[in-house]
Order: sequence, then structure tokens, then C-alpha cells
Amino acid sequence: MALSDFLAELDALLSDATTAFAADADAAALEAARIQYLGAANGRIKSVQKGLKEVDKADKPAAGKRFNEVKQEIEAAFEAAKERPVAISGTAAGRAIAAGVSFDPTIPGIRPRLGRLHPITQTIDELKEIMGRLGFTAVDGPEVEDPWHNFEALNIPAEHPARDPLENFYLEKGVRTIFRGGQAAGGDNVEKTAAKTVLTPFMLLRSQTSTVQIRVMEKTPPPVRIISCGRVYRPDTADATHYPMFHQIEGLLIDRHVTMADLKSTLRLFARSAFAPDVHIRFRPSFFPFTEPSVEVDMSWQGGWMEMGGAGMVDPNVLRAVGYDPEEVTGFAFGLGIERICARRHVITDIRELYKNDVRFLHQF
Ligand code: DAH
Repeated sequence: MALSDFLAELDALLSDATTAFAADADAAALEAARIQYLGAANGRIKSVQKGLKEVDKADKPAAGKRFNEVKQEIEAAFEAAKERPVAISGTAAGRAIAAGVSFDPTIPGIRPRLGRLHPITQTIDELKEIMGRLGFTAVDGPEVEDPWHNFEALNIPAEHPARDPLENFYLEKGVRTIFRGGQAAGGDNVEKTAAKTVLTPFMLLRSQTSTVQIRVMEKTPPPVRIISCGRVYRPDTADATHYPMFHQIEGLLIDRHVTMADLKSTLRLFARSAFAPDVHIRFRPSFFPFTEPSVEVDMSWQGGWMEMGGAGMVDPNVLRAVGYDPEEVTGFAFGLGIERICARRHVITDIRELYKNDVRFLHQF
């Protein structure tokens, strides 16, 4: 074979191979090109190499030298193609990189997925804000409680059905609650203070946020104006309106001359800020051990009434339990379900949706 023919073959091979490896190919196409040109058995380089034998003897050194150069160039083109980011090949960014452009501001960016607060957290934040404007400070209390704060101090005696193990999540770990004259006391002064000793063997997951009323009043002299939002637990079967864990907002106001009218205006202001300016609220007579009188609170909703929770004037026994003088101060308290408030605001028909952690649902709020 004439040297010029062989060199022409090499040029064609080089140009075909480098074009193939420079193409913006995915991993599979690149591998196919590798086999086509660099394949050990039937690659085009191999077949061109066979032609080397046919070149006139005098021209062999020149032909061999050029063959080696071409082979190295093709191998380098393949290595460069391998280094290209595979994931973006075929995209505008991939083409920009292939074209040697390091930054192209016209390429659409990759939008980061932003997280957001859970709808219950959003509702709690708004409720705190509304009540904050009315002068109520937000406080927290523990979710694992002793029977003194969950029951006893709230005027719920040992034989009360609300303390039934079927109605509560009791914990195995025991605690001794000792109190005298309404004051809870620690283990150290058992002897001194044990005018009446009640052995209450089990801690429990709090069944209501009313516990926080007691914790605050034990530590603070009147006047008191607080709300507390948080989780409570009851062994309820989950359905569209029940869940074994849910949230309550508790409110407590203690001062001189507090009346039922203050309670109603506070809840009305609360409902109008939380829902709509034309929301009505309604009280129905009810019973809670820790308030007297007690009411159920309803709010107007879609032409009817929706039950939001309970409220009332703090029972004198509760005031005495924390060392307040019921002749000096009075107060009101309320406890509302936060899931209900959230469901009503967002027209959620099944509260179980709130706890499935399906981002397609949660993303909407
Ligand atoms: N703790 C009650 C419950 O969970 C709700 C409640 C009723 C709270 C009346 C109050 C109240 O503060 O005054 O069912």
C-alpha cells in the first residue's frame, strides 16, 4: 500500500473517532463508540493497524510513527469524553461545558425544595400572636406529668372516672405526690408536710394542657395571664376527628373582679381574629371539675355550630390548691382543640392527614 493511502486512512480514522468522542453522548453511547474505535478485537484502530503490514518497507517507519500519534490522540479524546459529567450531558449545562463555557447565566437554575412549618405549628404561632396582642404570655409545660398536676390540683379526685387507666396513658415509672393544704411538696419534707399523704403510683402522658395552669399558679402570685399550647394524649381510636395525640390551647386569666363576661369577650375577640370578623361564639352549660360555672364553647361555622372546647370560671378549690385566696381573686380558663381550629381554617376534613407526614399534603399549607 502506498504511504499516502495509509496516511489518508489514518486521517479519516482520527477525524471520525474524535468527532464521535466529542459528541454530547450518554454513557451507553460513549461505550459503543469506544468499542467501535478502540475495541481490542474488531475496533477500527485494530483494522487500520493491520494495513500497516501492507505499506512498502521503506515507508514503514513513517507510517508506524503516524499510526502511534493517531492512536494516542484517539485514546486522549476518549479519556476526555469519560471525564465529562455524564449526568448533565444532553442538557444545556452539559453543552456549555463541552463548548468550554464555564458559566452561562441563561441556563435555568435548579430550584431548591424549600421546607415549611407544619400546619399545626403555623396555627400555634398564629394563636400565640393573637393572644399575645391581648396580653397573654405563652408558656410551656411538661408532657409527662404527675397526677397532682394532671388531676388532683385540678379538683379531679382519685375516684373520678377521668383517671381511669382506660382513659389515660399511664407510665410504668412511679412517683409519690405528697401535698398538704393544697401545696405539692418534694420527697425531702415528707415528714414535715405529710398532713395528708396520697400515694399516686404512676406518672402519665398529660391528658390536657390544664396542667400548665397549676404549674404557673404554683410559681407565680396573681395576677396571671397566660396561654399554653401543646400536645396532649388520650387512648382514643384514630378517626376523622380523633387522634391519640392532639394539641390544645389553654388560657388562664386570674385577677381581681374577673367575670364570665371577660371570658366571653376574650373568646369572641380570639375567634374573630383567628377566623373571620363575623364569627359568633356560643356558650352551653357544661361541667368540668376545675371550673364553676363551666361551659362548652361553640363557634359559628357553615350555618351551624362547631364545638371548640371547654371554659369556665376557675373553681375555688383549684385556687386554694395553688395557695391563692378565692376571696381575693377570681379567674377564667379555657381549653380549645388546635386541630379543630386548624381544620376549620384550612377546610381539612380528616385530621389524620396532619400526621401521615405525606409531603404532598403538607406542602399545600
Ligand atoms: N381540659 C379540658 C379538656 O381537655 C378543657 C377545658 C375545659 C380547659 C374547661 C379549661 C376549662 O381550662 O376551663 O377537656
